[in-house]
Amino acid sequence: MSGGRRAGLERALRAAIATGRLAPGATLPSTRALALELGFSRGTVSAAYDQLTAEGYLTAVPGWATRVAQAAHPPPTWRDGLTSAGSTSAGSASNPAVRRANAFPGDHGNFAHDLLPGRPDLSTFPSAAWLRSTRRVLTTAPPEVHALGDPRGRPELREALAGYLGRARGVHAGPARIVITSGYAQSLGLLAAVLAEAGTITVAMEEPGHPLHRGTVRHAGLGVVPLRVDDLGARTEALDQAGAAVLTPAHQYPCGATLHPDRRRAFTAWARETGATIIEDDYDGEFRFDRQPVGALQGTAPDHVVYAGTASKTLAPALRLAWLVLPERLLEPVIEAKRVADAHTQSLGQLVLADLIGGHAYDRHVRASRLRYRRRRDLLVGTLRDRAPHVRVQGIAAGLHALVLLPDDGPGEDEIVRRAAALGLALMPLRDHWQNPSGRPQGLIIGYSTPPGSAYPGALDALCTVLA
Ligand SMILES: Cc1ncc(COP(=O)(O)O)c(C=O)c1O
Repeated sequence: MSGGRRAGLERALRAAIATGRLAPGATLPSTRALALELGFSRGTVSAAYDQLTAEGYLTAVPGWATRVAQAAHPPPTWRDGLTSAGSTSAGSASNPAVRRANAFPGDHGNFAHDLLPGRPDLSTFPSAAWLRSTRRVLTTAPPEVHALGDPRGRPELREALAGYLGRARGVHAGPARIVITSGYAQSLGLLAAVLAEAGTITVAMEEPGHPLHRGTVRHAGLGVVPLRVDDLGARTEALDQAGAAVLTPAHQYPCGATLHPDRRRAFTAWARETGATIIEDDYDGEFRFDRQPVGALQGTAPDHVVYAGTASKTLAPALRLAWLVLPERLLEPVIEAKRVADAHTQSLGQLVLADLIGGHAYDRHVRASRLRYRRRRDLLVGTLRDRAPHVRVQGIAAGLHALVLLPDDGPGEDEIVRRAAALGLALMPLRDHWQNPSGRPQGLIIGYSTPPGSAYPGALDALCTVLA
């Protein structure tokens, strides 16, 4: 009950801030006063304030009143309504396990045990629900659904996503601002091409970050400025060299930090002041285990942040279904780029996903997956603590992967990956995630969601054997 009240209060406060009813700097009532006024418990109000502070909407200094953050107020131009591979060392090139692991994201090779990151447990794909929705779609949709349509994608899916993203991720998403794409990889490619065409020269990207995505940005002729990552997420020092930034605010890939509220504000302030664009890669934002997920950065600056989501982690990467929520100024160029690229993403999958979201089967699947991956992460952390206490699991309790840092005085990534391959275990080293690998720590990105549930304990056992 208090979860529903808290979520309702959070939504109301976000909306009040977005529309300017609560102005920057405005003081909020004390938790005691608001709790009394609303008839809620004080804990419920405190939890809502904490959540919005973590998302950068509010600022809280202990002992002082909670206020609306200065940079939390979207500019008045916002009109959409609120709706419910870097360098590869000789070591990796000579290592078949590493070569295979990094060849392309879907290439999980032929190992007995697989802890490579990048995909959910495919054995839990909701086939029965997908089949029911497919049947419903095919029996009710008119023949016109098989004709070429709007490059933005099916209106049914854009409508469903607008509601879902507003409710689950705090995104300001009117259906008209949504473009359905064939995966985040395509989303980023389209955006990079549009930004390059509009005169952007360099893009700031997290260091370490996803090598494939750096490659996509470079492919559009853009330079990449590395943004070092620490325990508070991406750092902001190098921003003055860039015209755009790509971030993973909810759960930095691969280090696992969530972007600190001060940094969230610094990034959006930079975008507002310079006219820069932030691309928010929310690849696994639904999967937070220790608390409610931190809402999307886009919610605090919808005219400057492009929200990018995907079904690759919640359902399956091979669906190739993803979405962008775009600021007005990028909408037409991205729609045109999408039209030129492939007319639009295939329609049937879009309609089935819309039906899954509308019937709440999508929410149910996400909830069940969250519980499953939380247990797997707990087992990973507990087992490593017992059997390989010299390694360190870094990052928040979230997502489908964890970064495991290796000690300086032990075998490095190459050696561990080689030993693992000899035991039939596929592991991903951190190496290729750096643009500039000098002086970097040694680590492994463990994809604990990858094996089917029955194979996970065996994979974990093999990992501990290799690390011990
Ligand atoms: C950091 C990051 N962003 C986004 C994605 C999703 O990419 P796509 O939608 O192209 O499958 C992934 C998948 O591995 C990822 O690791």
